[in-house]
Amino acid sequence: MYVCVCKAVTDRQVREAVAQGARSLRDLRRDLGIIDECGRCAGCARQCLESSAPPPAIVLDMALQCRTAAISECA
Ligand code: FES
Repeated sequence: MYVCVCKAVTDRQVREAVAQGARSLRDLRRDLGIIDECGRCAGCARQCLESSAPPPAIVLDMALQCRTAAISECA
């Protein structure tokens, strides 16, 4: 299904962007170019984003892994 008709972006592409770290409409706009033209896709993009986002526990785990990796690089 197309989420953004202007940029021909599908829900699959949105889910892939979320899997690669997108967490906000701003992220999706940056990564996929949605919302840049008419903006009618914002609501649908938000729904797709919210339904694709990982549960908070996974996000917390990812944040801890990033922090641990950053600390390791500094040591
Ligand atoms: S439908 Fe996405 S900018 Fe127009």
